[in-house]
Amino acid sequence: MNDAKEEIKARLPVEDVVSQYMELKRAGRSLKGHSPWGVDKHESFMVSPEKGIWHDFSANKGGDIFTFVMEVEGISFREAMEKLAAQAGVELTRYTGGDQEVAKKKARAREALALATKYYQICLTKSKPVCEYVFYKRNLNRKTVQDFKIGYAPAGGKVLKEVLLKRGFSVAELRTAGLLNQYDGDMFRGRMTVPFIDNFGNVIGFTARVLDKSEPKYLNTSDTLLFNKSRFVFGLYQAKEAIRRNGFVVIVEGNMDVISSHQAGVCEAVATSGTAMTEQHLKILSGLTSDIRLAYDGDDAGVRAAERAIEMAGDLGLDLSVISNYHGAKDPDELIQKDPELWRQAVEERIPAIDWLLSKYEERVDLESGPGKRKYSDVALKLLDKITDEVERAGYEKKVAEKLGVEVEDLRKKGKRLEEKLEKNKSRKIYKNAKTEVKSDRLKQLTESLLAIKVYGGVKTKIPFEVPDDETRLMELELVFNHEHEGMEPDSAELEKEAEELLERFNAELKKERKAELNARLAEVDEDSPEYEEILKELQTLQKS
Ligand code: UTP
Ligand code: MN
Repeated sequence: MNDAKEEIKARLPVEDVVSQYMELKRAGRSLKGHSPWGVDKHESFMVSPEKGIWHDFSANKGGDIFTFVMEVEGISFREAMEKLAAQAGVELTRYTGGDQEVAKKKARAREALALATKYYQICLTKSKPVCEYVFYKRNLNRKTVQDFKIGYAPAGGKVLKEVLLKRGFSVAELRTAGLLNQYDGDMFRGRMTVPFIDNFGNVIGFTARVLDKSEPKYLNTSDTLLFNKSRFVFGLYQAKEAIRRNGFVVIVEGNMDVISSHQAGVCEAVATSGTAMTEQHLKILSGLTSDIRLAYDGDDAGVRAAERAIEMAGDLGLDLSVISNYHGAKDPDELIQKDPELWRQAVEERIPAIDWLLSKYEERVDLESGPGKRKYSDVALKLLDKITDEVERAGYEKKVAEKLGVEVEDLRKKGKRLEEKLEKNKSRKIYKNAKTEVKSDRLKQLTESLLAIKVYGGVKTKIPFEVPDDETRLMELELVFNHEHEGMEPDSAELEKEAEELLERFNAELKKERKAELNARLAEVDEDSPEYEEILKELQTLQKS
């Protein structure tokens, strides 16, 4: 990668790259122009062709051609690299030795995991108690066990490890695959194994359950080169076709719920494995269907999960609903054990997520009382605020108003007031952020100048910053130094004075910033709180010094 970077730099002069975006004028050995970020009055953008770098004194940014294209286009390093490589006629694939190595590692990990899966599958058939657990206790049939490649990891400590070492895998390769624990023994021991299968049908990890009541109940592969739990959707490989064909997906909480559900004929079931649902999970599923049914408990965790899903669904245009009638069973698997038909019905009898949440809110308050009405309308309005479709929202407003025994107008009035309050808080925050931003920008500029004078001015004044060891950064600082102290002799008294002045300004600025910060905080905290006292004390000390 570094070779490619150097090759591109060697072929593309910095002034050529920069002048594709802005006008540059010659100024001695450098070139200059107006800041492309539009914040300068004078020409504060400098380019040094000799050094191959640029610096923008108004925006306080600088670097080489890659950082320039990244900043100007707002793209990643990788994208800038590809763009400039194309311009330079450098073929990146020739330099991607690093990537090829990663690809090789991944391929070996996949091979190891495929073999482990097969081995575990054989171990299952050979152990009578395990067969009993899987086929009788969990009631899984032969087809399900095969479809989900369920197996058994023998106890013993390093049984799988020995098998795979004999097959030519190294310990490092097994570690990469996530098959070893921290002591390099088998990760999974004496557990029923269910592989995590990716979109291409490759095994990328495992979840493994104890056969008795011991803890932890499940062990999962942690994130590896192949497996990422915040993106992985358990069962999707097996469910994809049904989801596409029937146009909906059911999200359940447990992996065993997915497996039982498939066996019961609801093949649209998936789960997030050993983690809460993330936006990435939802995005992946929304690519297949917009009808998303959450099979969540009616407890607090279930309510929060549904709220989070609505929040994350945002503008994805999803039709979120909740499946909640488990007929007293604790999860879909238990319901299926009772009667698979009941589960199939439950999946059909879903309730729109908003309605479900409203009914949950209702259960928690006394709608006859004043405080109950207030609490209910607080949470309901917050929820309704998330509905993007006006007509849909209007319908719910009517429903909620009716529940409260008030007019829709009253409800809207309260909604508006809450919104205004929120807006006010928000704008106050933005204002405050803007102020600190500007100030720290000034601090940043002073830091830059101080660093430059420290490295290139040879001054004796103690400047409390560490000198960077990055070559490009150093060249940048030289540019800053030449720009600010053109014609001054190094080691001169004149420079020494400049350094002292800069340091003084820096400290004053730092103090000013801290004071502003404390004052802002003072306005926020309670006058009776101990923090108020502390802030006052610090402010007084600052005043004195
Ligand atoms: P549950 O405890 O509800 O398990 O955890 P379950 O799916 O009903 O399992 P069975 O029926 O007892 O076999 C739900 C999910 O939480 C994760 C697993 O992904 C599980 O499927 N989990 C649970 C863990 O990762 N580790 C644990 O120790 C427990
Ligand atoms: Mn269960």
